[in-house]
Amino acid sequence: MPNELETYLKRHRERIETALEARLPAEDRLHPAPLGAAMRYAVLGSGKRLRPILVLAGCEAVGGDIDQALAPAVAVECIHAYSLVHDDLPALDNDDLRRGRATTHRAFDEATAILAGDALQTLAFQSIADEEALAEAVRLRMVRLLARSVGTDGMVGGQALDLAQEDRASDVAALQRTHRLKTGALLQTSVELGALAGGATPESREALASYGGHIGLAFQIVDDILDISGDTQSLGKTAGADAAHHKATYPALLGMEESQRMGRTELDRALACLESLGPEADPLRDLACYVVERNH
Ligand code: FPP
Ligand code: MG
Repeated sequence: MPNELETYLKRHRERIETALEARLPAEDRLHPAPLGAAMRYAVLGSGKRLRPILVLAGCEAVGGDIDQALAPAVAVECIHAYSLVHDDLPALDNDDLRRGRATTHRAFDEATAILAGDALQTLAFQSIADEEALAEAVRLRMVRLLARSVGTDGMVGGQALDLAQEDRASDVAALQRTHRLKTGALLQTSVELGALAGGATPESREALASYGGHIGLAFQIVDDILDISGDTQSLGKTAGADAAHHKATYPALLGMEESQRMGRTELDRALACLESLGPEADPLRDLACYVVERNH
């Protein structure tokens, strides 16, 4: 990873960590119920923070001030953490390991994990709605955009398609549709939220949205590849889980080489979307390479 990107990620992760810490309920606030503790466990301490970093980088790319983007950055990480907590539950993927430690339902219990996920989802929307640094009209547009990318036309709809496709042969078009919704929508929305926070023109917002779409697809292709080529320790989650669940994945349908080629094609397309933007968009360019070249 280039030094510049490393420094950028460190600096932005610190801002995000502080904002998340401040927004999550205190551990003992709901004492004796462990809800607040489970929410903090699910969110804090690890994770690449890719989605909130994309919010901040999207804002910077259009010349915005990242202070304006912290509330939507918190929101997308809360949504992401909720989706991981629920995805790991016995009724879904039934996993024991996430972000290098016990999944939330193993560290607490199933009922608490379900409720922590529920509360993280509402906290996401509250984080945006409460943000007085943003005009009310901007908050509304953000809430609408986020709701769309998380609900039936987004992540949850994609998750439902994913479940329906398990144990069944699928074609690449069906797989892409699932992934665009399940993983791509939130990644794309993250960049768009940043553009909104930074007061982007319709043209640059459109460019960033297209960039986000390609990054979303590239991210999932690489995620599928890493499930095969990565190891449990560096991934922080169980490697080989896709094959164990007989999931349709890019490598399963197309082979490793073709999947890698597709990942690089999506990277090139993402970079092409940023051509009209200046050096303020360099972090987005570096992040696109990072998404494709990462090893966890
Ligand atoms: C890994 O992200 C996460 C994914 C590849 C997303 C998978 C999609 C879901 C879990 C959606 C599930 C939806 C519901 C409604 C249960 P990452 O590599 O960025 O993880 P990190 O934040 O831990 O680094
Ligand atoms: Mg899953």
